[in-house]
Amino acid sequence: MQKPAPSMLRNKGRARCRGILGPPRLACRSLASKEILMAELAAPSAPRFEHRTDRGPVRGVTTASPRLSWSVASAPEGYVQTAYEVEIARGGATSRWVVESSEQILVAWPDAPLASRDVAVVRVRVRGTGWSPWSEPGIVEMGLLAPEDWSARFISPVGIGGLRQAAPEVRGTVQIDARVVNARLYATAHGIYTARINGVAVDDTVFAPGWTAYESRLRTRVYDVTELVLSGENTLDVTLGNGWWRGRFGFLGERALYGDRLAALAQLEVTTADGAVHVLGTDETWRARSTGILSDDIYDGQTTDLRFSPDTPFDRPVETVEADLGILIGEDGPPMRVTEVVPAVSVSTSPSGRTIVDFGQNLVGWVRLFARGGRAGDEVVIRHAEVLERGELAIEPLRSARATDTYFLSGARAENLAPSFTFHGFRYMDVTGLAELRVEDVEAVVIGSDLERIGWFSSSHGMLDQFHQNVVWGMRGNFVDVPTDCPQRDERLGWTGDIQIFAPTANFLYDSAGFLTSWLGDLAAEQDERGRVPHVIPDILRTELTSSPAAAWGDAAVIVPWTLWERTGDRGILERQLPSMKAWVDCLRIEASDDLVWRGGSQYGDWLDPTAPEDDPSRAKADPDVIATAHFARSAQIVAWAADVVGDSSLAVEYATLAASVRAAFVREFVTASGLVFSDAQTVYALSLHWGLIEDPALRARAAARLADLVRSSGFRIATGFVGTPIVCDALTDNGYADIAHRLLLQTQVPSWLYPVTMGATTIWERWDSMLPDGTVNGSGMTSFNHYALGSVIDWLHRRVAGLAASSAGYRTIAVRPVPPKGLTRAAASHRTPYGIASVAWSREGGEWMLEVEVPVGVTAEVQLPWGGSASVGHGLHEWRVVEPTAERTAPKTIRDIVDDETRWLRLVEVSSLMGVIDSDARIARLLEPMYDHPAAELGEAVWTRIWPSATAKAAIAKISD
Ligand code: BGC
Repeated sequence: MQKPAPSMLRNKGRARCRGILGPPRLACRSLASKEILMAELAAPSAPRFEHRTDRGPVRGVTTASPRLSWSVASAPEGYVQTAYEVEIARGGATSRWVVESSEQILVAWPDAPLASRDVAVVRVRVRGTGWSPWSEPGIVEMGLLAPEDWSARFISPVGIGGLRQAAPEVRGTVQIDARVVNARLYATAHGIYTARINGVAVDDTVFAPGWTAYESRLRTRVYDVTELVLSGENTLDVTLGNGWWRGRFGFLGERALYGDRLAALAQLEVTTADGAVHVLGTDETWRARSTGILSDDIYDGQTTDLRFSPDTPFDRPVETVEADLGILIGEDGPPMRVTEVVPAVSVSTSPSGRTIVDFGQNLVGWVRLFARGGRAGDEVVIRHAEVLERGELAIEPLRSARATDTYFLSGARAENLAPSFTFHGFRYMDVTGLAELRVEDVEAVVIGSDLERIGWFSSSHGMLDQFHQNVVWGMRGNFVDVPTDCPQRDERLGWTGDIQIFAPTANFLYDSAGFLTSWLGDLAAEQDERGRVPHVIPDILRTELTSSPAAAWGDAAVIVPWTLWERTGDRGILERQLPSMKAWVDCLRIEASDDLVWRGGSQYGDWLDPTAPEDDPSRAKADPDVIATAHFARSAQIVAWAADVVGDSSLAVEYATLAASVRAAFVREFVTASGLVFSDAQTVYALSLHWGLIEDPALRARAAARLADLVRSSGFRIATGFVGTPIVCDALTDNGYADIAHRLLLQTQVPSWLYPVTMGATTIWERWDSMLPDGTVNGSGMTSFNHYALGSVIDWLHRRVAGLAASSAGYRTIAVRPVPPKGLTRAAASHRTPYGIASVAWSREGGEWMLEVEVPVGVTAEVQLPWGGSASVGHGLHEWRVVEPTAERTAPKTIRDIVDDETRWLRLVEVSSLMGVIDSDARIARLLEPMYDHPAAELGEAVWTRIWPSATAKAAIAKISD
């Protein structure tokens, strides 16, 4: 999962243009180097199938006509693909298709659809003026497409493996008397499973078959087990855990949400040298036994009796279980795996005498511990927590989740302890029952969906980089087959609102297309006939309340597919999701009043606005009706755009008209004639500006100015919740207030993005103050230390601080528009777009500002320099240098100018504090706000009248405006 970031300034000898001019014009003319002109057209990459990122053959595909994509590493300057050729070898025949097209992303499968088990070997080549060499082959192998392909049936043990009983295991055997040439295992389960052939695990994945909307979609996996099946008798064992199917799950304390029986479906197909195909499928001839896994729950942890003997006979019967094989689906995205192993940093003793281990990183997975010298039956108990409070594990944030793994030792001199059917969110553990524990005996095993890292950011600001890193870890811990809110407490649910705002960030950091495609399939499946979207997907809450339309949460149905289109160029996802997207907007049309304003309902609003009461995070400053109506307008507009993309022009017109009417209703209802937006909170301005709800330029200017004032008067601290946080910096930057956005970004006082970094955070917290400045845990009862939502601002960091953004679908064109913060001397972002790596890196030194841009083949970059000048460049490495204009230090005209001048502002705060006037910069900012327009010379007077009537302070402060 973790790959090093490609160097931002690599391959200097390659295609580049450079030059130096002074501002405000473009710094350099693009000079094509010799290398560019002479670059050969390289062979395309091996074709990719749909959004699968498997290294090697892509197995278990159930899309009969999988779309193909490729990238081209290098090409001559001016190269444009004019055609491509696809070669497909399957069933002993090879065919070729030439397609006159410049497309290279998700192009249509040219051949007849593939059938179950088909294998195709696919190569591509591309033409500019001449043909490139052929790519390496990509191999696609189909899964089982129809219920009839399964001779196996779901089986469940009889008399064992019931609720609250030990995890069961089922075994089938098959005699193979010839040389094995090929063997495949097709499998899934009700519950989660591990499978072994002749005692060897069939692969390195965990928690198969993952979590989907089990009632309508159950994933299967295909394993290549050719190496594991031998001539002679073979055993196939499947161990079943409770997982999401039957464990205690959901904060309502329920169990067995999908059924009270665990069951396995497995079909082993072995082809031998004599051409025979031997099939071993789960049926009533299989046998079962209980295992040493005495209990297993995702929330509560696992209890394992290591005295369990592997020779325990399979002496229990099984029976077949009725199940609809029509709901079986293939994998869209990567499976879950162990993605990293993190060694312990320290072992220490807590004030109460407990043995505490620190892994140095808040992560998701489990502990692997090497126990020495225990006696048979000794009980070892491992508890997990994300933070320490007063030196002990802080377990209150876990609420009812026990997050405890227990082992009864076998008495062997040394044994490995690790669970198999549970995971925890933790940085710390404590352990009892061990005679000794050395730091080298314990490590944390990180698990999650095995996504490919494709996005990086770095800067000269250490805390900012740590913050970015925390978002990456937050994503790793919460992309556990579905996008979850948090990974540790009795929740871990696919909250729609959280992923709705995080999706752009997710798509930048990791290749999330397959993962989210799968989740959107679940969303569409669980939307009801009225178009309502449950608040969590898969929906295990199933209440009327959690199904009623909630703005920003239900809008995931529209915004997530649109984000996928924007970032990956997948038109097909829009085609597939459009009925679901439209159904949501139609639902809102009914929900809203006749005047198209969406009032009331059960809204989360600007969830977790820092001033909302601890016990009611929805009571934000931003009015919920404003937020709801804004989302109605936004989603209607996106449906119109999506309809346009898929070529449904009448639908596009219908929803564009609706969107325009809702925008008009929004302005009529919530925007004053002078550009103030009702409830006067940062979030309502951010929405109005960023989503174009206010169109009139004069009103927009006024709204933007008001937003900037609100940020100033909050002392440049965060004043937004889930809805406003990802977009407030965009709204400021795009409307002439980038400096204000940068002040907000680099703030370290609570509430801010960097405050948790100052407190040692290694993930993003749920609340702005999940840990209070005194080191105690926020006692609100809803305090996770691993929630990615508030980290969504890094998408802006990539796009507008480093300056790397997609300006047309799939990054076919990219917009390079960095706006460098004063507090940074360099920033860089790099992203593997569908076309290849794109990078932007800027730095400043000695009055010169340098920009380096790497553009992949097939992509055009529109570059806009911060102080004027623009260029459009094709693939290759390009560089500009400008002399950075020095900001003239002029005397401030207004009190607002003093607030905006960071040096003067800090002086004001310092003097105020020294003179005992007031020691909170945030309060000074707020109290001064009514006087922002007053002449700077009135600062002393302003402080005198509004804050503290002290003559000495007045004199000292008055000097600041000089
Ligand atoms: C979750 C949030 C979620 C919210 C909705 C919380 O319990 O952790 O992230 O979006 O509920 O109200």
